[in-house]
Formats: sequence, structure tokens, C-alpha cells
Amino acid sequence: MKKLHIKLPHDSYDIIFDEWDSPEFEKTVAEFDRGGQILTVSERKLQKLYPLAAYRYGELFLLQGTEENKSMAEIERLLECAVEKGCDRKSLFIAFGGGIVGDMTGFASSIFMRGIDFIQVPTTLLAMVDSSVGGKTGVNLASGKNLAGAFHQPKAVLTDVHFLETLPEREIRNGLGEIVKYGVGLSKDLFELLENNVEGLKNLDLELYRKVVYDCCEVKCSIVQQDEKEQGVRALLNLGHTFGHAVEAVSNFEITHGEAVAIGLVCAGELALRLNLWRKDDFDRMYSLMLKLGLPVKLRKEWKFDDMMKIMLHDKKTESGKLKIVLPTSIGSSIVEKNIPENLIRESMEACRE
Ligand SMILES: NC(=O)c1ccc[n+]([C@@H]2O[C@H](COP(=O)([O-])OP(=O)(O)OC[C@H]3O[C@@H](n4cnc5c(N)ncnc54)[C@H](O)[C@@H]3O)[C@@H](O)[C@H]2O)c1
Ligand SMILES: [Zn+2]
Repeated sequence: MKKLHIKLPHDSYDIIFDEWDSPEFEKTVAEFDRGGQILTVSERKLQKLYPLAAYRYGELFLLQGTEENKSMAEIERLLECAVEKGCDRKSLFIAFGGGIVGDMTGFASSIFMRGIDFIQVPTTLLAMVDSSVGGKTGVNLASGKNLAGAFHQPKAVLTDVHFLETLPEREIRNGLGEIVKYGVGLSKDLFELLENNVEGLKNLDLELYRKVVYDCCEVKCSIVQQDEKEQGVRALLNLGHTFGHAVEAVSNFEITHGEAVAIGLVCAGELALRLNLWRKDDFDRMYSLMLKLGLPVKLRKEWKFDDMMKIMLHDKKTESGKLKIVLPTSIGSSIVEKNIPENLIRESMEACRE
């Protein structure tokens, strides 16, 4: 068992790395059980795959775990069910699933009875390394992704890499896009660990994943501790995301988030080359790692620059209509750049086309 502690002014908590049926997990849930009804929130697929884990604590509510249903309407259904099942202010919600279940359960617990406690049990690679940590919760609106939500930190995160064994290969790649981002933007050691273990990553070596997931969480914790509400350094976690969000949108979400981030890393890398922020051999290292991991690295012909630019200008990360883009400065470090000439953005994106 390993633990990481995330220290925040009001809501410090542990990320516990163990097996889901371990006494440590049990102890943690008991610690935050204040005597109210516990509600585990999950989805049907996970209930079928892991019936014992899903039914372990309290009542069960199954979400429709798709982006279309990551909505206010689904939150309302969840909250009504919570009332029906006898939840109250002392209740605890447990999110058992990927990022969609985690974001929605977190958001629901931030507003149920004006805010109750919740615990994250992430079951996808992306949720383990990213969405379960840091307290961002929310849902989509018809006009865009994650446009309604709240910062609401979990009481604990219980992470068991064994859940990865049933995850489809594409969902592993989805997580890997985000993992490469941590390496390129924030941790040279992590990048080198990935570079030296491509086969293990592709063959789902769980020992290796245990270390990689831990290292990513460590990087994210250190950033979130410095800047919980994203007023400064937390923006660096968005490396590859400005372009990535545009890719997700122009592909009608056919490209997964992590794949889109991978393509976004290449666009950011090309732009950083044109601004003389980093060296070509660093770019080549990043590119070659992504190719070896089977991540997409090219923008498709049919994704038009003007459409993508429009989306990028509407991103949550813009400030008074100005683009703020995170760019790498070497393997393991990055900065936020503003006032980048549009022609350089265009040129960089054209250089990434298939
Ligand atoms: N809060 C944050 O900081 C943050 C960060 C990144 C992403 N997100 C959000 O996370 C969401 C994406 O999360 P995701 O990539 O985990 O997607 P997801 O929750 O849709 O899960 C992906 C797929 O894997 C299935 N699944 C989950 N666990 C499984 C398992 N162990 N075995 C087999 N199948 C399993 C799910 O049913 C689903 O079909 C997006 O909505 C995104 O906005 C949030
Ligand atoms: Zn992301």
C-alpha cells in the first residue's frame, strides 16, 4: 500500500494505492462514514464487471455514463434518487467509475443538501492519473463541455490499478495521452520512465502502471497544492489542451480526450519550435515516444483551421478573448504564452497535418 497526501488550505486528503477489497480501503470508507446513507454511483458496465466492488458500500445508483448524459438532467435524476434512498447531510457518495462518473458524482455531492462528502474510486487510466485528483467536478451544457461545475475536493481517492485489466485498449491510450503530457510539461523523470518502458506500457504491466499512476498523481498533487483554483501554475496541466479541445470538438468527440491531447501536444510542440522555446531534438523525443505508444500525432485534413481557431477562442482558458497557450520549453518544463501571432498558430497546425 502506498499513499500520497494532498495538502490544501481546507480540504487535505489522501490518495491511497491498494487493492479495492483491502482492509485499507475499508478503513478509509469507515473513517468518512458519518452515519448517513452511503450511495455508490457507478454505471451498468462496471456493475456487471465488478459486482462485488460496486455493491460493497451502501445503495447503488447507475448513471448513463456518456458525454451526452453528463448533464444537469442526469444530475437531477441522481439527486432525486439520493433523496429516495434516504440520503441526508451526513451521507457519503462514492464515485466508482471513470472520469464521467467521477465528475458527475463530485458535482452532485457539491450541491446535494448544499454539499456533502464524497470519495473517488477511479476505474479508468485517465481517471486514475487525472480526473479523480484535484477537485474539479461538473457536467456539460448544450453549448459546451464541462461548462457547469464546482471545485469540490473528495475526502479520499482509492486507486487500484487492477481495474485497468478490463479497460479497452483505446481507453488505455486515452490515459496515456494525459500521462505523456505530464512527462513533457512537468516531469523529465516521468518522461524518461515512459521512454524506457514502452513495451511494459503497451503490455499493461501492472507493476509499471502502479509506478506511473503514482508518479502522475504526485506531479498533479504538487501543482494543485500550489494553485487549487487555477489562478496560476495549475494552468500548466493544460499543455496540449487548447488544441486538444478543438480536436475533440471538430471530430464530434470521435477522438477521445487523451488522443486529442496527444495531437495537441504535437501542435504545441510545433508552435514552441517556431517561437524558439524548445529544441528540435526535444520535439523529436516527444514525437517518437507518442508514435511508439500508438498515440495519434496528426491533424486530419477535414479539420479546418478556421473551425478549430473559433473553438480555441471560446475555450474556458481564454482571457478577455485572448488565447493563452501552454508551451513546452524542454522535456519536463513548460510555460504559459499569451499574444501569440495567429499566423504562427496556423503555420504550426498546418505542419501537423496528415
Ligand atoms: N475533473 C477533472 O479534472 C477532469 C480531468 C480530465 C478529464 N475529465 C473528464 O473525464 C471524462 C473522461 O473520463 P474517462 O476517460 O475516464 O471516460 P469515461 O468515464 O467515459 O470512461 C471511458 C469508458 O470506459 C468504461 N470503463 C470505465 N472503467 C472501466 C473498467 N475498469 N473496465 C472496463 N471499462 C471501463 C466506461 O464505461 C466508458 O465506456 C470527461 O468527461 C472529462 O471531461 C475531468
Ligand atoms: Zn485532460
